[in-house]
Amino acid sequence: MTGFSEINGLLHAEDVSLADIAARYQTPCYVYSAGHIRTRIAALQSAFKKALPAASQPLIAFACKANSNIALLHLMGQLGLGTDIVSGGELARSLQAGIPPNRIVFSGVGKTDEEILSALKQGILQINVESKPELERLAQLAQKAGKKAPVALRLNPDVDAKTHAKITTGKDENKFGIPPDEILSLYRWGADQPALHMRGLSMHIGSQLTELEPFRRAFEKMAALVNELRAENLSVTALDLGGGIGVVYRDESNADLDGYAALVRDIIHPLKTEIILEPGRLLVAEAGVLLTRVLYVKEGKKRRYLILDAGMNDLMRPALYESYHAVRPVDMRAARNRTTYDIVGPVCETGDTFGKDRELPEMKAGELAAIMLSGAYGFSMASHYNARIPPAEILVDGARHALIRQRDNLNDILKKEFIPDWLEEWPDARSA
Ligand SMILES: Cc1ncc(COP(=O)(O)O)c(C=O)c1O
Repeated sequence: MTGFSEINGLLHAEDVSLADIAARYQTPCYVYSAGHIRTRIAALQSAFKKALPAASQPLIAFACKANSNIALLHLMGQLGLGTDIVSGGELARSLQAGIPPNRIVFSGVGKTDEEILSALKQGILQINVESKPELERLAQLAQKAGKKAPVALRLNPDVDAKTHAKITTGKDENKFGIPPDEILSLYRWGADQPALHMRGLSMHIGSQLTELEPFRRAFEKMAALVNELRAENLSVTALDLGGGIGVVYRDESNADLDGYAALVRDIIHPLKTEIILEPGRLLVAEAGVLLTRVLYVKEGKKRRYLILDAGMNDLMRPALYESYHAVRPVDMRAARNRTTYDIVGPVCETGDTFGKDRELPEMKAGELAAIMLSGAYGFSMASHYNARIPPAEILVDGARHALIRQRDNLNDILKKEFIPDWLEEWPDARSA
């Protein structure tokens, strides 16, 4: 169950037909199931309730890069979640959604002074520092601002997450985090700075992990480092284990949440620290579809194309990561023959392809289709490429539905661009 199911031959988001959503809000649009997000959160929480005592439950800081719509963040906040942010924009979104600052952690290799200062001003829970120059900068800025910055050093454990190269973050060739052999001296230095409060360590080894073994190896490296730090009387009170648990886009194995929680129980819990998790995809991927309309069915020389009104600017994952998303017709009421399509968007790139050689019921222009499992890294990666307007976003909860992000207005975009006066002089300047 993903919050989307066929009822009387029509694909529904919970109790609402996607045909009704398309008629009301037009396509392309993202449609999210609030119920399914709650179900995923409950599944993660329940795995940890089984594994750890009540007083040791982790803070779940949703990695809002996966989907930073304010309504969804608000829903997460209602369930006790915080956020993992990577920019001042995500901080602003989290605060606007009502996430308390003491549930916000700030990751990312390139925080600007402005972003650091606003995080300090808001009093967020923790800043995950990714390099020596960043730690030095943070100490200076915090001292100037008269604040004590709460710090975790992001460990790069050099563990192969066995996922797509573009979403691997914990190998020593990746830009993220600090190598294990540099943590000790940096932590020591940080502990001596009056403007820093060294809370502990963080890490995030990659996304869409489908095996537990890389987590085990990374947790063990983290635990060994905690023991080294403590052997020097350095205080370690918080460990942030990152996100990365994968979902089933196609034929991957299902995330073993109990197994993951058991690893945390066995390796991290004995260290008696606060525990923070940063799941993104796990909580929202299944809970969203990109609802789109077939513009044309084109018979090419060699292939048959289903040309949709959604493109790679709306959902970038297939073009960026060659990732798989099932595509389903919304209306399955009539029996039809099946045929093979390349499913593509209108963007002028060959990479604007959602799937090749997909066998589907024969479809006609004007019909609706849903690109499944698009709730994570969908809208949050959308762009204006080809001067297209990213999709609207709709939230469904039972029989209720609401627009949670309206489409941009083309005029608002055009208004932001200016032709400098001096450009008018150009032909004269050239002839002078
Ligand atoms: C620091 C950090 N934490 C958490 C996440 C969330 O990862 P996922 O969506 O795989 O859970 C990411 C994703 O790239 C990340 O960079």
